[in-house]
Amino acid sequence: MKILVLNGPNLQLLGRREPDVYGRVTLAEIRRQLDRRARALKVSLDFLQSNVEGELVTAVGESAGRYDGVVFNPAAYTHTSVALHDAIKASGVPCVEVHLSNVAAREDFRRRSYTAPVCIGQVAGFGADSYLLALDGLVGYLRRARAIGAGGRTS
Ligand code: DQA
Repeated sequence: MKILVLNGPNLQLLGRREPDVYGRVTLAEIRRQLDRRARALKVSLDFLQSNVEGELVTAVGESAGRYDGVVFNPAAYTHTSVALHDAIKASGVPCVEVHLSNVAAREDFRRRSYTAPVCIGQVAGFGADSYLLALDGLVGYLRRARAIGAGGRTS
């Protein structure tokens, strides 16, 4: 099983960016934690960060056929990007939206997500753990979907 972890704008600054909101964990450390969890779950994981909306759109578009699922923190594009909404929908690849902060408890403009309606779920508010919870949830979802496809049981 292959999972793509995608990160949007400004997440390369984690560790020094608004630590009261996002914590002190760097993106490199989040990647290490995810790699460890992926090994435990026996899935393979690729990891990408971009500040460029079009690069994220391309990465989502190219995920079809290459990845079984996507863990995605679209960062500020969450609240603005019809292009990412369309890309996730078009790809047909199950995607989990992730946020370090609890976006529902912040400014009004962060309450709207263009990407959440085309994701299978969302995890927000648990800092770096949001990524690990999202990976666990996504792998569980994909394994259940496979079991159903193979005529197996779902629990
Ligand atoms: C974020 C929340 C977004 O509103 C914000 O623009 C980010 C980070 C989070 O992980 O909490 O850049 O996606």
